[in-house]
Amino acid sequence: MSSHSEILISGDSMSRRVKELGVSISKDLATSELCVMPVMDGGMIFAADLVREITLPLMILPVKASSYGNSTTSSGRVSLPWGIPKGVAGKDVLLVDDILDTGGTLSHLKELLILEGARTVLTCVLLRKESSRHLTVDFLGFDIPDRFVVGYGLDHAGLHRNLSDISVLNQEPKSLAQATFSH
Ligand code: IMP
Ligand code: MG
Repeated sequence: MSSHSEILISGDSMSRRVKELGVSISKDLATSELCVMPVMDGGMIFAADLVREITLPLMILPVKASSYGNSTTSSGRVSLPWGIPKGVAGKDVLLVDDILDTGGTLSHLKELLILEGARTVLTCVLLRKESSRHLTVDFLGFDIPDRFVVGYGLDHAGLHRNLSDISVLNQEPKSLAQATFSH
């Protein structure tokens, strides 16, 4: 491991947890109209692994949301550059995101999906920060401390999404682009 990062969740623990989530989702969501909606870009790696652990018939309709830009604190604004996907009317939508921070992204998406005629909208989030414990999600991977983390889909300025482990960034923001991680 690099001296610049600290592994919080290993790739192996993640795959065990993702398998468990797949089992719970398959058991709890007794629907034949499931639409899994990865929240891009951060949710894509998690969603790709998760859908292969779900045994229900399902469609995958990604939505792109961004609230951070290149900073490590939320801008508070959510933009949806691809808009809301077509075809959600009458579907049971499962939003799949990497991390719950302010919760702004998911609550905004939930409202819009209901307006588009989704029958139900549930949420599955891999990580929830300490300061967001009061926010509920339907399926949760792990509770984590209030640190900025990267890996397994989570980025800083577009980098580090491809790391198998989830690590805490310990560097000054100006030199993050040069941060080194072992793969
Ligand atoms: P929220 O809308 O404030 O809940 O922010 C959720 C989004 O912010 C996530 O989907 C991530 O893209 C991003 N985000 C929040 N915390 C982190 C972090 O620690 N590392 C990387 N991205 C984060
Ligand atoms: Mg992000």
